[in-house]
Amino acid sequence: MSDDEAFSEHEPVTGSDTAQRSQAEMDAEMAAVIEGYEAGKAEHGEETQPRLNYPPYRSSVLRHPTKDPHHADPETIELYAPVFGHRDVDPLEADLTIQGNGEPIGERMVVTGRIVDGEGRPVRHQLVEIWQANAAGRYMHKRDQHPAPLDPNFTGVGRCLTDGDGHYRFTTIKPAPYPWKNHRNAWRPAHIHFSLFGTDFPARMITQMYFPGDPLFALDPIYQTITDQRARDRLVATYDHDVSQHEWNTGYRWDIVLTGSQRTWTEPEGDEHE
Ligand SMILES: [Fe+2]
Repeated sequence: MSDDEAFSEHEPVTGSDTAQRSQAEMDAEMAAVIEGYEAGKAEHGEETQPRLNYPPYRSSVLRHPTKDPHHADPETIELYAPVFGHRDVDPLEADLTIQGNGEPIGERMVVTGRIVDGEGRPVRHQLVEIWQANAAGRYMHKRDQHPAPLDPNFTGVGRCLTDGDGHYRFTTIKPAPYPWKNHRNAWRPAHIHFSLFGTDFPARMITQMYFPGDPLFALDPIYQTITDQRARDRLVATYDHDVSQHEWNTGYRWDIVLTGSQRTWTEPEGDEHE
């Protein structure tokens, strides 16, 4: 993923006319999609993945594939050779609060969970990467120019390896919502981007974790690309008081299922922008 790909949300993608549409217009469009989904669910079944062509999320219309995927066999080496060495990932990289010369501003939190496959087997010793906005809703990136302060002690980037039982754990700062250019007064719910590498490069998956009770869920055309409430719920972490630590951090737990009918939604490769 290039830097520019990661932050294309900060540029208008479909022209100024759509960017001027109101939240009320977006709400009506999103409600119509959900209504259609609920009406057809009995016939077509439950959706677990996002709609590729979801007009309220403006840039989805331009990004999703319009032709059938072309099957390409990966080079044999990609199927078994490690993408990185285990020694390449320092355990300190899982703590996003110690990257600067001082403490970053905001709510210190731990987010942890377990990554399993569809049969419940742990995904062991695999690379987990996260990136996020800071406590003011600002990414440390040149394409993010909205008038909220940068934090010199917070890059918003971290990574770790899952342990032998599939657990990951990050110490970070709770991100804030931020505006984007999908429509007038558009705000993303607070979220953390996750990238998961399997044992081989073609298995990489991208998704987003949200926080419970966010009032922006109903208004967000990205969150709403997933039409099924239960599938949406699987992207929301739970507050876990056992992960919180006395006078130090709050705690959230978020488990990820990579395959099967209960799988966590993951973005198609190349769509890790917002
Ligand atoms: Fe984001």
